[in-house]
Amino acid sequence: MKQKERRPAQKKTSGPSGETRRDDRAGRPAKPVAQSVVAREAARQSAVPAAAARPLTTRSGERPTERVPVILESLGAGDFHLIDSGDGQKLEQYGPYRIIRPEAQALWRPSLAPQIWEKVDAVFTGDTDEEGTGRWRFPKAALGETWPLNLLGVDFLGRFTSFRHVGVFPEQIVHWSWMKDQVERAGRPLKVLNLFGYTGIASLVAAAAGAEVTHVDASKKAIGWARENQALGRMEKLPIRWICEDAMKFILREERRGSQYDIILTDPPKFGRGPNGEVWHLFEHLPLMLDVCREILSPQAAGLVLTAYSIRASFYSIHELMRETMRGAGGAVESGELVIREAGLDGNTPGRALSTSLFSRWVPK
Ligand SMILES: C[S@@+](CC[C@H](N)C(=O)[O-])C[C@H]1O[C@@H](n2cnc3c(N)ncnc32)[C@H](O)[C@@H]1O
Repeated sequence: MKQKERRPAQKKTSGPSGETRRDDRAGRPAKPVAQSVVAREAARQSAVPAAAARPLTTRSGERPTERVPVILESLGAGDFHLIDSGDGQKLEQYGPYRIIRPEAQALWRPSLAPQIWEKVDAVFTGDTDEEGTGRWRFPKAALGETWPLNLLGVDFLGRFTSFRHVGVFPEQIVHWSWMKDQVERAGRPLKVLNLFGYTGIASLVAAAAGAEVTHVDASKKAIGWARENQALGRMEKLPIRWICEDAMKFILREERRGSQYDIILTDPPKFGRGPNGEVWHLFEHLPLMLDVCREILSPQAAGLVLTAYSIRASFYSIHELMRETMRGAGGAVESGELVIREAGLDGNTPGRALSTSLFSRWVPK
């Protein structure tokens, strides 16, 4: 994979947008923060200036074959399934709990009777500014902040976070099963890099399957949750490096060191912050992130997987970027959407498909 290719002279691009929303996927509020000119300038200076970090590589060679559109669908697994959706909400089963959360994609009416929607354990209301469970209502009985769950054989904690998430993005199970397969079939310990790794479920799935894992996230709190998950499953002995750092900074350093990985998962938010205030802005930084990821893929790499939530883009945007980035690498790029299919009260009655995110995946065959 590692080919020395021509890089153009440094190109001037616009600086960071000055966007001040924090990443909202680690349980932190995602509201705009009022900023003074001074604060905005400080943020500007601490951002990773994409073009200055290093210019993009000019790639040659054929673009990988394409497979589009690919809809990777899950009917749930382990302790999770989507029961029903509608009226801008979704009704989900997470282990013992039935939970209602907002879901803008659910434009239709619910299939199940209102009495079923009323008998739930937790509802995200988002109606206070409090941290933690303050933004949840528990109609039956007050619940603790966390509860045990299992997906793909890995134990972890569900968590009522203040930004409506529950500590796991279960639609990603399709990527995690694919990765588990690659790791189990490899016949050697694959090196897996999990960027923006959040609560670490992908890292634990990979390590349990036999991989050596590097998990990177900017949030100390999220790394703490990931380590709690590791301890819950008594997986402390598995080889996982937990790194609290800006993802872009980390991969740029890995590139300089000549480190290589066999599988890279990257699940960047639209906006985020590194631990030292580095700004992540998906539309600005994604091309460089993929470019560097390609450079640190090993010659026997098994895949590079990108997911993208909450962005106003077609899957073709990330698909064509991935194909350009992987020019000359052979293989194929498959892109589309991750969807979860409603599975009814019994978890086994297929209903409507709920779209969750876009993805693009390069594979060597
Ligand atoms: C989209 S979630 C990842 C979800 C996870 N991959 C999963 O499937 O469960 C976003 C994560 O990115 C982290 N993050 C935000 N900005 C970052 C940055 N600049 N560098 C590294 N991590 C960042 C947040 O702390 C958060 O945990």
